[in-house]
Amino acid sequence: MERSSDVPVTTGHPSWVSAATGPVDPAQVNNYDAFAEAYSAETENNIMNAYWARPAIMALAGDVAGRRILDVGCGSGPLAAALRERGAVVTATDLSAGMLALARRRLGDDADLRIVDLRDPLPFDDGAFDDVVASLVLHYLKDWGPALAEIRRVLRTGGRLIMSVNHPYVEHVGQPPPRPSYFSTTSYTDEWTFDGKSHPMTFWRRPLHAMIDAFEAAGFRVAVLDEPQVDPAARELFPDEYPDYEGKVGFLAFVLEALEPGE
Ligand SMILES: C[S@@+](CC[C@H](N)C(=O)[O-])C[C@H]1O[C@@H](n2cnc3c(N)ncnc32)[C@H](O)[C@@H]1O
Repeated sequence: MERSSDVPVTTGHPSWVSAATGPVDPAQVNNYDAFAEAYSAETENNIMNAYWARPAIMALAGDVAGRRILDVGCGSGPLAAALRERGAVVTATDLSAGMLALARRRLGDDADLRIVDLRDPLPFDDGAFDDVVASLVLHYLKDWGPALAEIRRVLRTGGRLIMSVNHPYVEHVGQPPPRPSYFSTTSYTDEWTFDGKSHPMTFWRRPLHAMIDAFEAAGFRVAVLDEPQVDPAARELFPDEYPDYEGKVGFLAFVLEALEPGE
């Protein structure tokens, strides 16, 4: 069957994102401290984060009143704030001191905020949380095994990991040819430009089956697999951008249930 389409199935990148072209300084890769304020301001009310990525997580989280939630890679804390408004008891962590300073400004002095690299052991007791939220952070990690094992450890059995990543197929077709195989776990580097300065951002893209294998190996069951759609409320707020987002795929989101060890 012949098929033709000139309508992309994915969105373009926001104007501040482009593929890296030159050599990359490893010391500057994923240095959120260097652009924390600008990133937070850009994503606070934009269509991609405020009307697509974050609503997806909040919809999956549902009723969280009274639940102990750990928000890892919390950034400047928009989800932590939204979860707290719904009655959750939130602890939030991030690798970037700059992002956490903004979270502190948003959430106040009494908020439980800690600098934690997800590649390291988590400084929390076994079973300390009912839910862990990991929104748009795991795609910075090459190896998911240790991080998922630690997240499983700090969840009570039956607790949930609610997470999102860039959609692996979108990131596959978004790379300039020659592309590595979709089926391998590969890294790619973009440049994010804020205030005229470019920042190299390296992501790890893995196929869906590798994600499922990693969840299973860490003791999780996939309860929900979601390909969120942009919030229709964005139609009136972003009349020019909305057509580029409507009906497009951008993220994968999951609710994962923490299984009894050995289950
Ligand atoms: C795209 S932002 C997402 C922020 C927030 N979760 C949200 O959805 O609005 C990614 C965040 O992950 C953090 N991050 C990146 N690598 C990390 C790591 N290895 N450990 C912990 N946090 C990390 C960054 O500092 C940044 O704040």
